[in-house]
Amino acid sequence: MGKEQNRVVLCASSSMAFLLLLAWLYASVFSSDVTPFEAWKLPGFGSSLSSKMSDHEAILANYSLDFPLRRLVRGDDRIQLDTTGFACHSDLYSELCIANKEVRIDNKNLTVYIPSSQSQISRKNIKPYPTTNPLHLVTSVQIVNEETNLPSCNFNHNVPVLVFSSGGFTGNLFHEMDELIIPLFITSRHFRSNLKFVITDYKAWWVNKYSRILSRLSRYEFINPAVNGSVNCFPGAVIGLKFHGLLALNRTDIPGGYSMFDFKHFLAQTYNLKHTNVFEIKREKPVLILISREKTRRFVNEDEMVVMMEELGFEVVVTRPNRMSNLNKFSELLNSCSVLVGAHGAGMTNEVFLPAGAVAVQVVPLGLDWASTNYFGEPAREMGVKYLEYKIEPEESTLFQTYGKDHVVVTDPESILAKGYQAARAVYIDEQNLKINVERFRETLVQAKQLIEDSSDSSSRN
Ligand SMILES: *[C@@H]1O[C@H](CO)[C@@H](O)[C@H](O)[C@H]1NC(C)=O
Ligand SMILES: *[C@@H]1O[C@H](CO)[C@@H](O)[C@H](O)[C@H]1NC(C)=O
Ligand SMILES: *[C@@H]1O[C@H](CO)[C@@H](O)[C@H](O)[C@H]1NC(C)=O
Ligand SMILES: *[C@@H]1O[C@H](CO)[C@@H](O)[C@H](O)[C@H]1NC(C)=O
Repeated sequence: MGKEQNRVVLCASSSMAFLLLLAWLYASVFSSDVTPFEAWKLPGFGSSLSSKMSDHEAILANYSLDFPLRRLVRGDDRIQLDTTGFACHSDLYSELCIANKEVRIDNKNLTVYIPSSQSQISRKNIKPYPTTNPLHLVTSVQIVNEETNLPSCNFNHNVPVLVFSSGGFTGNLFHEMDELIIPLFITSRHFRSNLKFVITDYKAWWVNKYSRILSRLSRYEFINPAVNGSVNCFPGAVIGLKFHGLLALNRTDIPGGYSMFDFKHFLAQTYNLKHTNVFEIKREKPVLILISREKTRRFVNEDEMVVMMEELGFEVVVTRPNRMSNLNKFSELLNSCSVLVGAHGAGMTNEVFLPAGAVAVQVVPLGLDWASTNYFGEPAREMGVKYLEYKIEPEESTLFQTYGKDHVVVTDPESILAKGYQAARAVYIDEQNLKINVERFRETLVQAKQLIEDSSDSSSRN
């Protein structure tokens, strides 16, 4: 964890956060000329999950290939795509370019040749990754508008390509979901797996970790340009990923009209998760998963917490996920649990695997109120997961001992946050551990238990 907090710099104070949210709202306004559900109505695209590859190819051959491509841009951008064969769209946190004519990609120097004489762009660099974080880990892709001197194709493909980077802050479940998996879903799901992935900054372990998800989004083998220095030709291309905010999907801005609910359903199908709703879990005691952190924002008195949880009647599972955690197994564990408890941090991202009606309880350390609510609180509600926050008192932070009760770090976190990211990170993210007041925390868990019982009761009444 930790790296995700780079973003806290942006959100250092709540007023800044408010401005950002506003900017988001403005940045994502498009003129809308299609309804989100148009895609479903086209024959062959609505119900093709089970059909064979050859059917898909036949359908694609019949329908203009640029159908799913042009759905990714709207308004002026779409007009430009239709007239020149190439258009880019950027907003606050993402940039992507679309070509609906043949492109050639030279894998050796990550150069995409777009043979579009009318396009105004002659050369352009793009980082194929959401721009929420510093992008030094992401290699640029060069787009060149060129009609002569094109390299010749070593391989011809008959479906479009999506170029994205697996660089960035991989190794952290939050970033992997927030900046890769959800953006990939937003950008590619409506292609119905009929596109090829070129994955730059290719990390084999990451591709392996998410292979189930990736292979449901693309039915083809992934291309790693670093080991495959050939020239590949595609009938169309998407370069970059759409991004809709922290663990967010905005269904009115997704070609297939997908919502967070659809995304969760997609995950559940991908990992064969049994429980759609928490009341389907048949266990003697409700299972509570406690995300244990090793380094920062660690629960100093974890054992004491576990005892209290067990006394309340939970079966407690303490787990410490790491970047190599096997998602096949871990998602199953999460999907059988009723309550997830963790301190603010990447581990909270596991709420995506909870069944609807389960409760995510986030322990909010000093100075991290905004981040806690916006990274995991709001998204939980979008997912149909119930969400409770336990805001610690200053005495429950180890910063209280380190700095003393009268120090500004303890008395006025806002003023430290106002100094900027580095200052805030140094204390609240990296230096803080938590000694939970078990008696006080108990009340939050009683509430969590009540919420689960309520949803079981209402299900049995129905
Ligand atoms: C979602 O997208 C639509 C269309 O682009 C936009 O009008 C709306 O403001 C967006 N909603 C959010 C919460 O960003
Ligand atoms: C493609 O179009 C041809 C001719 O219009 C039609 O006979 C065929 O069934 C179509 N194939 C698919 C898969 O839609
Ligand atoms: C990319 O590399 C090829 C050789 O593989 C070269 O011909 C071409 O000029 C390079 N493109 C750019 C834009 O540097
Ligand atoms: C390079 O990519 C092409 C097209 O995807 C593939 O057919 C070929 O086997 C790859 N070559 C190597 C050495 O990976």
